[in-house]
Amino acid sequence: MRHLMTPLDLSVGELDALMDTAGDIKLHPEKYAHTCDGRILAALFYEPSTRTRLSFEAAMLRLGGRTMGFAEATSSSAAKGESVADTIRVVSCFADIAAMRHFKEGAPMVAAQFSKIPVINAGDGGHQHPTQTLTDLVTIRSSKGRLDSMKIGMCGDLKFGRTVHSLIRALLRYENISFVFISPGELKLPDYMIEELKAHPDVSYKEVTRLEDALPELDVLYMTRVQRERFFNEEDYVRLKDYYILDSRKMELAGDDMIVLHPLPRVNEIAVEVDNDPRARYFEQVQNGMYIRMALILMLLGIEV
Ligand code: CP
Repeated sequence: MRHLMTPLDLSVGELDALMDTAGDIKLHPEKYAHTCDGRILAALFYEPSTRTRLSFEAAMLRLGGRTMGFAEATSSSAAKGESVADTIRVVSCFADIAAMRHFKEGAPMVAAQFSKIPVINAGDGGHQHPTQTLTDLVTIRSSKGRLDSMKIGMCGDLKFGRTVHSLIRALLRYENISFVFISPGELKLPDYMIEELKAHPDVSYKEVTRLEDALPELDVLYMTRVQRERFFNEEDYVRLKDYYILDSRKMELAGDDMIVLHPLPRVNEIAVEVDNDPRARYFEQVQNGMYIRMALILMLLGIEV
């Protein structure tokens, strides 16, 4: 039995296979419509979500399976003090696979240790979000035709942004990758991520503050939200929340083939006017998220089509 806690739990070959399967599902959904008949996915969400929870549920439903779970900790026995370990033991009696989002870093890992079914980390605090990374990778590959030889700008909350941390980890395994990290000083990448980067001397990176300076040189711009829920005081959040706003004027500085990704939800960091720019791929990214989660469920359940 396998779990997915971080993108590194999958080899590069497995990532390729998942992306190939996701592409095939998109083209031939009927081939997969009954592959999970009789199977149940438990969506255990202790923290709010729109995309991740609904795309996991849509993925299982489109594979012929069914879903159950909770969308907030207060509607589960966590509100009565039940541990994650006990909850997953119970859920293991009912479901075949579980996706867990938790506000505490490492909670899905604890669940995996006590689980009798595969557990997928659907985002743990400011740590990792591996299925968002699958979504990001498949969108980059389908837009650019490759995952190597790429300059990626990551902009916004790089300190608490779990999607950023997971995507960096995944991309470190491809050739000729360089990063431009764009953030205010308070939201720079955490030291443990810098250490991981330094362990890959073939990967170059720089840290800058101005988005305008980075835009002309990027193949991919990965925008992120400044996350109110991760701040200890409201004053800091208010000061930093509109630090970056990508608008049509700034998009003029970027190359014609740069693509813009965002894990969403967005608040103000991408002006709505950018949505109609053909380089904006964040809604396509959402749809890819469902197909790649379908592929992942099949892989973790050991179902071959
Ligand atoms: N990208 C992402 O994790 O979105 P949700 O918080 O809506 O699931």
